Amino acid sequence: MATRRRTLLKVIVLGDSGVGKTSLMNQYVHKKFSMQYKATIGADFVTKELQIGEKLVTLQIWDTAGQERFQSLGAAFYRGADCCALVYDVNVLRSFDNLETWHEEFLKQASPSDPKTFPFIVLGNKVDVDGGSSRVVSEKKAADWCASNGNIPYFETSAKEDFNVDEAFLTIAKTALANE
Ligand code: GTP
Ligand code: MG
Repeated sequence: MATRRRTLLKVIVLGDSGVGKTSLMNQYVHKKFSMQYKATIGADFVTKELQIGEKLVTLQIWDTAGQERFQSLGAAFYRGADCCALVYDVNVLRSFDNLETWHEEFLKQASPSDPKTFPFIVLGNKVDVDGGSSRVVSEKKAADWCASNGNIPYFETSAKEDFNVDEAFLTIAKTALANE
């Protein structure tokens, strides 16, 4: 009898409050978007099944709170992660500057066996806003940061317009699978 092996991949999504972490996940998993902001409290996950080559993969995506007062995640939460997605808003400089902090915080908490090769991915979200005229972080600036932090893959996304969302999460799944 053929046995089907299902692989569970744990992905943690981090980034400042309001950058669109929850919206990206809702767009990816439920194909839904709302302009209404509802802060995430604590952390929760959604799952999505994917076929990658021969493998059936269950992507377990953990949404977290960007607001500090809602963060209550200990090291145990981060441990066992197969990939970490860092999200910023291309229209908010501070959210980009804070990538450094989120990156460090993840490595500190998760303490992966090899921090240098642990898979991250960066998403620059909300590229749709004002047709791109209000963006303050250029694609090059973001790509340079990713290149100098261990060649992290970089995607520009819009949860609102469903731009690059599938592509980004597919890369997340493949990267996580490679690290599993
Ligand atoms: P926390 O849960 O507080 O950490 O925030 P979050 O990162 O989960 O942000 P959330 O997904 O709740 O989105 C914040 C606001 O930005 C909401 O009003 C969304 O509708 C809006 N938003 C999210 N993604 C996009 C996008 O791609 N384009 C535009 N125009 N708005 C977006
Ligand atoms: Mg949220």
